Amino acid sequence: MFRLFVGIALPEPVRDRLAGLAGGLPGARWVDADNLHVTLRFIGEVGRDGADDIHHALARIRAPAFELGLSGVGCFGSGRKVRALWAGIGRDARLAHLQEKVESAVVRAGFAAERRKFTPHVTLARFKGGTDGARIGAFLERNGDLAESPFPVRAFTLFRSHLGREGAHYEALVEYELDA
Ligand code: 2AM
Repeated sequence: MFRLFVGIALPEPVRDRLAGLAGGLPGARWVDADNLHVTLRFIGEVGRDGADDIHHALARIRAPAFELGLSGVGCFGSGRKVRALWAGIGRDARLAHLQEKVESAVVRAGFAAERRKFTPHVTLARFKGGTDGARIGAFLERNGDLAESPFPVRAFTLFRSHLGREGAHYEALVEYELDA
């Protein structure tokens, strides 16, 4: 079985900048610089045939290249159960367009539609069992104005997630070029 998701790989300087935010939060499991990405669609465990169908559907997507910028930080969860810390991605119509195309491709390949709303982000850290929001307040305040010069997105990627004792490792299986 393959644990798959579709995402956008980030340029090294952007990953380095984000990895530089790591540290100082008890209980946080920080994402390795190599693993930082934007998820467009989590698929989960699929067999060889399902993976082939997904690949063929993704390969048919035609969408324009675009630029993305980082925009602040935020978290998933609330109260005493904050589950993840993330860097935001500035609103972009072409990103939304690509995400919709990826979603339809995955559905066309025979998988159930995603019910959750798309919130583009780069997960920076996760908290097993959740953490108290009060513990991350200073981090959110300190990095609220996080911004980077926009970077080009010329492709999206089918990733395989390998779960291990040391955490997950994401392998780029196929890159799909966007139109210049
Ligand atoms: P994230 O983008 O919020 O971190 C690979 O596991 C990626 O798919 C992760 O980056 C993760 O979310 C996203 N994802 C979405 N739903 C998931 C799920 N049920 N299990 C694991 N990862 C999931």
